[in-house]
Amino acid sequence: MTTTASRPGDGKARAAISARTLRTDRWWLAPLVTFIGLTSWVTYATVRVFMHDFFWVGEYHYLTPFYSPCMTDRCGDAAMFGTPLPNFFLLPEAAFTLPLLLIFRLTCYYYRKAYYRAFWLSPPACAVPDGHKTYSGETRFPLIFQNAHRYAFYAAGIISVINTWDAVVAQTTGLGLGNVILWVNVILLWAYTLSCHCCRHITGGRLKHFSKHPVRYRFWTLVSKLNARHMQLAWITLGTLALTDFYIMGLAADWYSDLRFIS
Ligand code: FES
Repeated sequence: MTTTASRPGDGKARAAISARTLRTDRWWLAPLVTFIGLTSWVTYATVRVFMHDFFWVGEYHYLTPFYSPCMTDRCGDAAMFGTPLPNFFLLPEAAFTLPLLLIFRLTCYYYRKAYYRAFWLSPPACAVPDGHKTYSGETRFPLIFQNAHRYAFYAAGIISVINTWDAVVAQTTGLGLGNVILWVNVILLWAYTLSCHCCRHITGGRLKHFSKHPVRYRFWTLVSKLNARHMQLAWITLGTLALTDFYIMGLAADWYSDLRFIS
């Protein structure tokens, strides 16, 4: 049932709608899928990170990205950057980088939209009311820290270099399915990182004339193409990270052998 209410400012009346939303499509499906997907991934990653085992295949130098760089005594030969971290159960082997990657994803513009909708219902979808009475935006604590995303992007770039190094080191043992999986994961991680909105601004922002900056224009064009696929890359890289980790865990646990193309 609708009545009319005055609209501030223009003196005209508009419908006052008592229904929560007039949408009749399955608007709840996307936030539900997001909720299930992110919850499943975070659960898997948390279990793996605190397992402290099955992260390294010494024969082929495969290191799972969840443990890279590996920096405790438990790492053994996987410790390519030293072992400055103590062996606490609550301290992941990659405790230097995992928090930075977490911040990078948490402050990502796409993930913000995804988890604001799916977890915080703020709002769950377009033309659906917010699940909360008040809204303070991202200008106050704690959400003001979302603005640190650019710095997390720099850290993610360095971590992508480390992941690339892991793939190079593994490559020195020959070529197996594990190498292919590591490289696909690294390339997609680079694509996700470079498709970041901050990267697009860094390459092409604050310029008045692209014609005077042809190199930056080329980078900006490339990044813009990736940027158009940012959401897809965000999800695909969650999948490749989990798949890479699972494959290496299976090898390390002797569930199966690596398929070797060149020994
Ligand atoms: Fe998503 Fe930067 S906006 S990683």
